[in-house]
Amino acid sequence: MSFVEYSELIQEGDVAIIFLGHDSMFPLMVQSGAQTQTRYGVIRHSTDLIGRRYGSKVTCSKGGWVYVLHPTPELWTLNLPHRTQILYATDIANITMMLELKPGSVVCESGTGSGSLSHAMLRTIAPTGHLYTVEFHQQRAEKATEEFREHKVDHLVTVLNQDVCKDGFGVTGVADAVFLDIPSPWEAVGHAKSAMKRQGGRLCSFSPCIEQVQRTCAALAEHGFGEICTLEVLLRLYDVRAVSLPLPDFGPDDPSRTDPGVPDRAGPSVPTNTAVTCRTAIAPREMAGHTGYLTFASKSLV
Ligand SMILES: C[S@@+](CC[C@H](N)C(=O)[O-])C[C@H]1O[C@@H](n2cnc3c(N)ncnc32)[C@H](O)[C@@H]1O
Repeated sequence: MSFVEYSELIQEGDVAIIFLGHDSMFPLMVQSGAQTQTRYGVIRHSTDLIGRRYGSKVTCSKGGWVYVLHPTPELWTLNLPHRTQILYATDIANITMMLELKPGSVVCESGTGSGSLSHAMLRTIAPTGHLYTVEFHQQRAEKATEEFREHKVDHLVTVLNQDVCKDGFGVTGVADAVFLDIPSPWEAVGHAKSAMKRQGGRLCSFSPCIEQVQRTCAALAEHGFGEICTLEVLLRLYDVRAVSLPLPDFGPDDPSRTDPGVPDRAGPSVPTNTAVTCRTAIAPREMAGHTGYLTFASKSLV
C-alpha cells in the first residue's frame, strides 16, 4: 500500500480505512497479531485483514461487518488526526486544478499543518514530482514526516521545520507552484517568488478573512505577479429522499358525476388518498459555510 499507488492485497504495515458507514470511518495501521475493537466486534488483523483484498467485507466477532478500503488522500482528509484546521476536498480540488499540478510538478507549501493538502498534492505530482513543505511548529513538522514515511510517500516530499516568512522554502528557482496556508501570507510572497522557476509558475494563498486577502493581493502586485484573482468555492450536497406530494383537488371533471375517490366540495381541499410518492434530491437545510478565500496569481517571465 502507498498513498500514491494502488495495491490489491492488504499487507502488514499498511494504513487501511475501516468503513462502518458514510459518517463513520477510521484509519488503522495493520499489524500481525493486533486486534481492533469496533461497535460490531473485534477485527483480528492476522486473520481478518492480512492477505485479503482491499474492498473486502470483513465480519467482526459480534457478527456485524465493515468494509476495508484502500487509503486515498480524500479518505485520509476525512479521517486524519487533526493537529490544525485542515483543507477539505472542495478547496483541494480547485487548488489542484488552478495551480495546474500534474505528475512531475515541483511544489512548495506552507504550513504543512495536518498534511491534508500535502497528501492530495503528493498523489497528483507522483511519481516524479516533489513537494517542499515548510512548518515552523516542531511537533507538527515531525508528525507530518512520520506520516509521510508510514504512507510510503516520503521519497516525494521534504519537510522543513522553519519560519517561511523569515527563511523561505529552502529552495530557489525550482517550483512550478507555491501554496500558502498561513496567517500572514503577504510576508511570504517574496520567498514564494524566489522559490519559483525563473520562467514562472502559479501561486495560491488560502485565507479565511478578507483583510488577509487584501494584504496578500497588494504584496502580489508589488512583487510583479499577474492574473491575480480571488474566489470562494461553496459546496452544496443533496440528499436522495422519497417524498410524498399531495395532488391538488380541482374538483370532479363532470359535476354531474360524483367520483368516489374525491370527497365532495364541502370536504377537505386536499384529499388524503391522492398523493404521489417519488424519489428526489433534497437540498440540506444547512449548507457548509465559509472555509476561506483562494487567491491565485501567476509569476510570469520578465
Ligand atoms: C491551517 S494549518 C495548514 C493546514 C494544511 N493546509 C492542511 O490541509 O492540513 C497552518 C499551519 O501553518 C503553520 N504556520 C503558520 N505560520 C507559519 C510560518 N510563518 N512558517 C511556517 N509555518 C507556519 C502553523 O503552525 C500551522 O500548522
